[in-house]
Amino acid sequence: MFYEPRKRNHGLPYDPFKALVVPRPIGWVTTMSTAGDINLAPYSFFNAFQARPHLVGFAADGRKDSVVFAEETGEFVCNLVSEDLWHEMSATSAPLDRGQNEMLHAGLAAAPSTLVKPPRVARAVAALECRWTQSFHLEDAEGEPSQAWRVCGAVIGIHIEDRFIADGRVDTAAMRVMARLGYQDYAVVERAMTLARPPGGGG
Ligand SMILES: Cc1cc2nc3c(=O)[nH]c(=O)nc-3n(C[C@H](O)[C@H](O)[C@H](O)COP(=O)(O)O)c2cc1C
Repeated sequence: MFYEPRKRNHGLPYDPFKALVVPRPIGWVTTMSTAGDINLAPYSFFNAFQARPHLVGFAADGRKDSVVFAEETGEFVCNLVSEDLWHEMSATSAPLDRGQNEMLHAGLAAAPSTLVKPPRVARAVAALECRWTQSFHLEDAEGEPSQAWRVCGAVIGIHIEDRFIADGRVDTAAMRVMARLGYQDYAVVERAMTLARPPGGGG
């Protein structure tokens, strides 16, 4: 099949786009407002862009609390979602009023971050402490502003649960990290395969 997303002529009950750009890592983003309100929400339009410096970002379908708070205080934390936190992660996507703490709503304990004010999810197997760097109002194919905002940050601190470090490496598969597929589907990273790059292939 072929379809043009702008024409929505896929003929299917749902646009399959999000079932194709997969698996999408989930940034489970903690932010804090200038008033000290704590916010936690999952974003699957999330990824790392660069490792020198360590840069990550998430995109929101509107000026959601995570965007507003990250810009207000210039900090955010991206918690990893492992399988045992799947339901709690989903609970934190509930549309609560601004200022309502999704951590409390989902029964999650917070742990203090080291370099930034927004706390971590205590049970998260890893968390990236970020300093906000840029926000972009994303444009469509006609150059018109969309309703989406991309928030970028530099990772300035990284927490990893020690039990997942073995022989000097992180055992990612053992963490059972969740990723987003299309529809209401998710995947679990549970098998790693190793393939060396061709000689001279760089990093
Ligand atoms: C797994 C998952 C991934 C999500 N990814 C996004 C996303 O990439 N962008 C977005 O705008 N909303 C996304 N959402 C919905 C937000 O989490 C939801 O709108 C949330 O209430 C936003 O919270 P905030 O206003 O406190 O930032 C996702 C929800 C789930 C469950």
